[in-house]
Amino acid sequence: MNLETLIRAIPKAELHLHIEGTLEPELMFEIARRNGVALRYRSVDALRRAYEFSDLQSFLDIYYEGASVLRQERDFYDMTVAYLRRAKADNVRHTEIFFDPQTHTARGIAFETVFHGINNALRDSGMNTRLILCFLRHLNAESAMKTLEESLPFREGIVAVGLDSSEVGNPPSKFAAVFARAQAEGFRIVAHAGEEGPPSYIREALDLGASRIDHGVRCMEDSDLVDELVRRKIPLTVCPLSNVKLGVFRSMTDHNLRTMLQRGLRVTINSDDPAYFGGYIVDNFLAAASALALTEDDIRRLARNSFEASFVSDATKARFISELNQY
Ligand code: HPA
Ligand code: ZN
Repeated sequence: MNLETLIRAIPKAELHLHIEGTLEPELMFEIARRNGVALRYRSVDALRRAYEFSDLQSFLDIYYEGASVLRQERDFYDMTVAYLRRAKADNVRHTEIFFDPQTHTARGIAFETVFHGINNALRDSGMNTRLILCFLRHLNAESAMKTLEESLPFREGIVAVGLDSSEVGNPPSKFAAVFARAQAEGFRIVAHAGEEGPPSYIREALDLGASRIDHGVRCMEDSDLVDELVRRKIPLTVCPLSNVKLGVFRSMTDHNLRTMLQRGLRVTINSDDPAYFGGYIVDNFLAAASALALTEDDIRRLARNSFEASFVSDATKARFISELNQY
């Protein structure tokens, strides 16, 4: 089996995926039309051409604008169905999906409209899935706490809380009280850290109880931190195409994913916001494998890591890994 066939075929988990980042331009236009929302772009092509980003913020500005077409439960449902179909085609067996309630509640959309739209699509898909509620870190801790409280009636459907949006200047410690409360309520903690922000943000996230770090690529600037992440087997959900599109690395050949693997870190490959960054999970595997000369062993390791890093039970992990071992 050649490497590309192996990458396509092996069972894998996706652990870093923003559902609002899966909204493809075609569906965005369709939803905008049925909701009577005006978009700044005249066509799908014009919108796609605007997807040239210089850094995280330049992406976020357009990503929040795209999400503004979502108004009804059906919109969230259709977006989620489209992602799950695409993930299934890439042999994703399990996916842990971020959603950003504040992006919608700030526009007057009810938390339950967002939650039910996404969650009903998960339920109808029959796929193995979990939901992770992300707080927008550019907003204040009071807004995050209010969002956490709004989520409590739906707690059974949400495995963890996380932190996304503009990283630099918004360290995890800003949300210490929110994460303490979330842990007390039984949520697991994850956080975007060390994407554009410094390694100290990764330390802060760990101090606040994070059991997985999203991106985390800047950990390599602090060898003591790397030692700790290796020792504690803390998973890092790396998103190669995202990192290149947002200028975290100049090109894929400059990406540190292979070095991270060689250092013994529990690295996984994910697509982040596939509609905006030019590819789903298999595209991320293929781009990294080709630019960094990853081996078959590396690919198998990455897939195994994705199951080990997931929030499923040990028995389910063992079942996925035994399926993987047949390749
Ligand atoms: N980083 C921070 N916030 C985000 C991202 C990301 O990669 N994607 C969607 N929101
Ligand atoms: Zn992300």
